Formats: sequence, structure tokens, C-alpha cells
Amino acid sequence: MLIALVSAKGAPGVTTSTLAMALTWPRAVVLAECDPRGGDVLAGFAAGRLPADRGLVELQIRGRNNTMANELPSQLVQLPGTSQAQYLLPGIESAQQAGAIDWDQLAGVFRRLHDERQVDVLADCGEVHAQHSPAPILRAADLVVLVARTTMPAVRVAVKTAAALRTDLQNNGMGADRLVALLVSSPHGYSKDEIGKQLDLPVLGEIPWHETAARVLSEGADMRDRYLHSKLVKAASDAGQRAGTWAWQHYSEADAMRRSAQPITNGYPVPTMMGERRGR
Ligand SMILES: Nc1ncnc2c1ncn2[C@@H]1O[C@H](COP(=O)(O)OP(=O)(O)OP(=O)(O)O)[C@@H](O)[C@H]1O
Ligand SMILES: [Mg+2]
Repeated sequence: MLIALVSAKGAPGVTTSTLAMALTWPRAVVLAECDPRGGDVLAGFAAGRLPADRGLVELQIRGRNNTMANELPSQLVQLPGTSQAQYLLPGIESAQQAGAIDWDQLAGVFRRLHDERQVDVLADCGEVHAQHSPAPILRAADLVVLVARTTMPAVRVAVKTAAALRTDLQNNGMGADRLVALLVSSPHGYSKDEIGKQLDLPVLGEIPWHETAARVLSEGADMRDRYLHSKLVKAASDAGQRAGTWAWQHYSEADAMRRSAQPITNGYPVPTMMGERRGR
């Protein structure tokens, strides 16, 4: 499945929460850094311990002539601290490179990754209104997760962004019902139920405020693997499970519709566009 995560404004914790989900994802997964303002995981969580010569830009260069899908595996790096198939597709280094990325083609590659290899993609798409936004990835996603803090200023902006996203997904994507919220609780923030109502969105979960664990995930502060047992990572893991289930429902419905729209292939004659009939 393809799950895209975005924010309305103000760094609510998209990268931190998405990384925590990827580290605890129960199946093969690629954390794809599609933030057009640049990726953070290599310099942050990985603290320079991973090769810096792979990622989105290299994929774009090598993958011209529609060979991106074949090139993708060579541009992935295993996420530190994981022993299974949990990978990172490092993002661009600076916002100047964003205009060179073919988000449409990339969205197709991510969808094929699940169809052909059963690998899920968590795409960190950053702030939704950024220049050269990866809108095609959101439009192709089985689930779009709007990440927001629980303060009133953050929720006010998120309400407007949710409305704009709903319209775009309805008109250009896979439907407005793909949109859900993930809350990052701020000290003294509002409750999950109150905010769910304000946003008028189903809420995947609430990530607790935990500065120490968040610093490990966003800055690579040394906490060994104790961060994996923090409340933050546990909540992200639960939200990830729910995201997987909801995305799977959307994926299966869309798949069933695609199949029912295909011509019958059991030997009955199938009418063609030209009006003649052909056997199968
Ligand atoms: N659950 C949390 N508890 C405490 N601090 C957090 C939490 N989530 C994120 N943070 C902190 O908030 C800051 C921003 O987090 P992060 O980079 O994940 O946000 P973002 O939405 O990806 O931002 P940007 O739009 O800049 O990419 C970081 O310093 C991070 O450590
Ligand atoms: Mg980020």
C-alpha cells in the first residue's frame, strides 16, 4: 500500500512519527522522503552513519526512460536498528532539487512496488503547500494522513488544509474518504475527540509528547535502542497498524472495482470500442 503523510504548517512531527511507524512496520516497507524542502533522516536519525550517495535524486537521474521501478532497489538503504526489510529512500538534499523530481512517475513506481513485490511505502510528503509539492503521490495514495499538533492555532490551520485536501482528493485523487488525521499531542493541547470533530476526520491515533524519544528520531541523539520501547514509538506503531488496515480496505475496494471494470475473460465474446466482437 501507499500511505502519504503531510502537515498543514509548522513542523508538527511528520518525519518523527513516520520514522517511528517505519521502524515498527510489521511488513516490508520503504520510508520514502518526498518532502520537497529536503529529507532529514540521513543527517538526523541516521546521524551520518548511512551512505549519502543514494536516494531520490540519483533515482531520478538513473531512472529516466521509465526505468525508475528497476532502479529503485539500488537507491534504498536499510534503516539503522532494523533487521527486517525496513528501508529508507533518502530525500533530496535541498529545495532547489525538488523541481527536477518527476512525482507522477514516482507515484506509479510506489504503487507497483506493492502490486509486484508486496512492499508498502510510507511517503513523508512534508508541508502540503510547499513549492513543487508531491501532489501526485497524495493523489495515488491508499491513505493520506494529515499530521497535526493538538494546539488551537495548529488545528485552525489543519481544518483549512483538510478541506483543501478533501477537494483535491475528490476531484483528482482516489476519493476524499482517503483522508485521515494523526495527532501529535502538545503539552496543554486539546483532546483527540475534540480535534477529530473540528477536523471532521477519522483520527488514526495520538502520538504522545516525548522529547527524549523524539530527539533520537529527529536528531539521532544516542539512546541506543531504548527509544523503541518509548511511549512515542509504541503509539506510532499502533497508529501504523491502523493505517495499514485502513489503507488495505481502500486498496482492496479499488482493486475490486478495477477488476469488475475489466472485460470478462472466460471465453464469452467481449464487445470492443469498434463495435465488432472478439473472443478471448
Ligand atoms: N511526539 C513528539 N514529542 C516531542 N517532540 C516531538 C514529537 N514529534 C516531533 N517532535 C519534535 O518536533 C520537531 C519537529 O519534528 P519533525 O521534524 O518530525 O517535524 P516535521 O513535521 O517533519 O517538520 P518539517 O515540516 O520541518 O519537515 C523536532 O525537534 C522533533 O524532535
Ligand atoms: Mg519533516
